[in-house]
Amino acid sequence: MKPNTASLDLNNYFNSISNAYSVNEYASLYTTRLMRKLALNCITDFKDKSVLDLMSGTGENIRLLKNTKDIKSISTLDYSSKMNSIAKEKLKYLDFEQIEGDFFKTNHLKTYDVILCSFGVKTFTEKSITEFCNKVNGLLNPNGEIVLLELVKPKSQLLTSFLKFYLNNIVATFYGKKFKQLFPFIEANKNLNTFKNQFTSNRLSDLRHQRKFLIYEVIHAKKALG
Ligand SMILES: C[S@@+](CC[C@H](N)C(=O)[O-])C[C@H]1O[C@@H](n2cnc3c(N)ncnc32)[C@H](O)[C@@H]1O
Repeated sequence: MKPNTASLDLNNYFNSISNAYSVNEYASLYTTRLMRKLALNCITDFKDKSVLDLMSGTGENIRLLKNTKDIKSISTLDYSSKMNSIAKEKLKYLDFEQIEGDFFKTNHLKTYDVILCSFGVKTFTEKSITEFCNKVNGLLNPNGEIVLLELVKPKSQLLTSFLKFYLNNIVATFYGKKFKQLFPFIEANKNLNTFKNQFTSNRLSDLRHQRKFLIYEVIHAKKALG
């Protein structure tokens, strides 16, 4: 079962970890960065595409994009004002649109050729997963692509116990006790099957769903041409 998100003000929580958020790269032994790169590689060509990075945090995905001058437009969306300030500072070399708001409550968004979302859905409930997938489908242009990346519970109990120990002791001790609050969400997140099923019922095609390095899953799917 998913932890009760009602008892945790997630926006405040993400604000509170924003300054230390970049530690995820070395605390994960750079596997989060590697996974973001592999997820971005699902998109064969960003040239002339409009790109939206959802739950964009401190701008990790956008910083990994190459040849940004060839990209038609880059937008980010996140509700954490502190994550957004850090992203703005880190991406000050780039002309991009930063949307601050809750994805579920932000209306009148444009449509996009590429939607990226990494490590932003682990706190979602079953109901919000359906809402998320329907909304993403509506935001994709014909032939548009979505790439979703998330941490999931390892299949082995031994590895789950190790991950729990690592996050709750090593990461929490060195980088802040607040990181402990993430483990229950990862533990409850067995796979991305609900997203896959929902995208399938939204008739997204070319769907690829893979588990990588035991604890990450990636979904890449396309909207039909017409
Ligand atoms: C774990 S961080 C991931 C950041 C980044 N995408 C990455 O790859 O590291 C999750 C981000 O999702 C944002 N977030 C979570 N739920 C959201 C929602 N409903 N609307 C907007 N942002 C949300 C949080 O503020 C946080 O910055």
